[in-house]
Amino acid sequence: MSSPTPMDVDVDEPLPVSNGNGSATTNPKPANAMAASMANASAKGKGKADHEAQNRQAAEIKAANEREGLPWVEKYRPVSLDDVVSHKDTTTTIEKFIEAGRLPHLLLYGPPGTGKTSTVLALARRLYGPPYRKHILELNASDDRGIDVVREQIKNFAMTKVLFSKGFKLVILDEADMMTQAAQSALRRVIETHTKNVRFCILCNYVNKITPAIQSRCTRFRFSPLPESEVQRKVDEVVEKEGVNITDDGKEALLKLSRGDMRRALNVLQACHAAYEVVDETAVYNCTGNPHPKDIERVVQSMMSDEFGTSYSLITSLKIDKGLALQDLIAGAYEFLDTVELPKQSRIYLLDHLGSTEHRLSVGGSEKMQLTALLGAFKLAVELSQKKV
Ligand SMILES: Nc1ncnc2c1ncn2[C@@H]1O[C@H](COP(=O)(O)OP(=O)(O)OP(=O)(O)O)[C@@H](O)[C@H]1O
Ligand SMILES: [Mg+2]
Repeated sequence: MSSPTPMDVDVDEPLPVSNGNGSATTNPKPANAMAASMANASAKGKGKADHEAQNRQAAEIKAANEREGLPWVEKYRPVSLDDVVSHKDTTTTIEKFIEAGRLPHLLLYGPPGTGKTSTVLALARRLYGPPYRKHILELNASDDRGIDVVREQIKNFAMTKVLFSKGFKLVILDEADMMTQAAQSALRRVIETHTKNVRFCILCNYVNKITPAIQSRCTRFRFSPLPESEVQRKVDEVVEKEGVNITDDGKEALLKLSRGDMRRALNVLQACHAAYEVVDETAVYNCTGNPHPKDIERVVQSMMSDEFGTSYSLITSLKIDKGLALQDLIAGAYEFLDTVELPKQSRIYLLDHLGSTEHRLSVGGSEKMQLTALLGAFKLAVELSQKKV
């Protein structure tokens, strides 16, 4: 962290001083005492540098100890911008902004578990060092973010003068797509008025829920789902550090189920490691409550070739035995159909029915009725394919 210069110290706020464990505390000093200590400063220069290095080391050890009991997603959360996997274009661009001292307001958007919050926290750490929490205002969906909060809390934070030579503070608005329209409108003005000493980092999953006026005030970065190879690299690192006994098919299943969401991959890995000695394919599917591919295959084969009644009882007993939901079976069947040879017409017919059954289930349709409707659709699709041949 760079030390504050007298120019940018807020006269109302006391100076920060180290408290010996790496974090800064505030301690008001009278002006004459400050002058005396400044006179001694050069003589103490070397000792001070050593002291700062010791403090930094102590802070790192403390942080490492604190990470021990944390869930793996937190324990392995990227510390620096370089640790953020994938999104290299984004992190290098942000790094360039910092180096040039011209950080714009940022809008990071994309699906869950792709590194948006991690990137912003790494950015804050890069700007302010380990005690970065003091220099940011972080608000997420669990905080009250109605119009009053935007007006008051953000405004108060934005208005206090800057203590640091970087010249600005960060306001992080996580899950901003959950903010009310009124609050977003109020934010427009706040962003403009306080650009001099505050930068806003707006994070969300759905960028279309952010008003265009706010979007145009920010530099946008999209965080796409992480490629499997990148998730695998991180999973391999965690597996090694935590001594997880994982099989190849277990890893494959984990990567497939995480669908580019690193948080999901790490959470499932930790749950499986806690519950099973060996993390294999079955463990991963059991842990997530997802149907095993073999069960899906059995279900689809049966729906296509068995009698209506046989197929119905097979699926019902499978659902009860393994605690599966029809919705998950439909999702699995949808993927499995990709691997089955079917005439165009039957495939379209089936996909249409899978889609509408899924929709009806999501709005509260009865599982029993939807299962029979779906079975009927499979039977008709098979008939259609036979007619075609
Ligand atoms: N690109 C990444 N590089 C390294 N780790 C990552 C990355 N993305 C996610 N992770 C891991 O997943 C966890 C969750 O990531 P993060 O909180 O940054 O996701 P997010 O994009 O903010 O998701 P959400 O939209 O749900 O808030 C992190 O603690 C980290 O361990
Ligand atoms: Mg987040």
